[in-house]
Amino acid sequence: MNLDIFTLFPEAFDWFREQRPVRKAIENGASFNTRDYREWTPLKGGRVDDSPYGGGAGMVLRVDVVDAALNGVYGDGDRPRTVVLTPAGRNLDESLVTELAAEPTLALLSGRYEGFDHRVHEHLADDEVSIGEYVLAGGELPAMVVADTIMRRLPGALGDAESAVEESFSDALDGLPEYPHYTRPPEYRGWKIPEVLISGDHGKVREWRQEQSISRGEAREGR
Ligand code: ADE
Repeated sequence: MNLDIFTLFPEAFDWFREQRPVRKAIENGASFNTRDYREWTPLKGGRVDDSPYGGGAGMVLRVDVVDAALNGVYGDGDRPRTVVLTPAGRNLDESLVTELAAEPTLALLSGRYEGFDHRVHEHLADDEVSIGEYVLAGGELPAMVVADTIMRRLPGALGDAESAVEESFSDALDGLPEYPHYTRPPEYRGWKIPEVLISGDHGKVREWRQEQSISRGEAREGR
C-alpha cells in the first residue's frame, strides 16, 4: 500500500508516522507520504485558497491547486483512488476500510478553511469520506483516522499479541463489538472479575465472550 496524504500541514503527521502500527507497516514495505499543496500551487506566494463565489465567511481551497498537486505527484497518467475528507461524506466503517486497504495506492485529500471548491468533489475525487457527523477544523485528523485504520491492517503492522483477527467488528465476531477484557488483580475495591474467566473452562469462556459481544451489539443498536 502506498498512501499519499495531501495537506497544508504536513508537519501535523510527523508524530503519527512514528507510532506503531504505522511505523511497523512502513518498515514492512508500506509507504506513507505527505504531499503539501503549496509545493505545486500555480498561484503566486504559495496561495492555495480564495473567497467563495456568492459571498460568505471563510476561504475555499481552489480546484486548480488540488489538480496541480495531483498532477505533480501522479503525472498525466492514471490517478489512484482519491478520497476527499468531508463531514458530508460516506461514514467510515470496517467495510469501507477493507475496500480502501485493498487499493495499491490511495490519495487522501485533507482541507482546511471552508473545505474545497466543489469541483474537487465532482471531478477529482472518487469518494467522499466522513469520520462522523460533526465538523472538525480540518481534514488532518480525519486523514489520520483513515490512515490508522488502513495501516494497522497491513502486513507486519500488528504483532501476534495484537492480532486484529478477533477485534471489534471483525468477521470472527460476526461484525459485533469485542467482548470486555480483564486482568490482575481479580478483585479491586470490591470490583470482581467475572468468575468464568478464571474457571479454566475454555468452552465456557468462549460462550461468555460471545454472549457479551451480542449484548454489547444490542446495546449499541438501542442507542
Ligand atoms: N473535515 C471536517 N470534519 C470532518 C469529518 N467529520 N469527517 C471528515 N472530514 C472532515
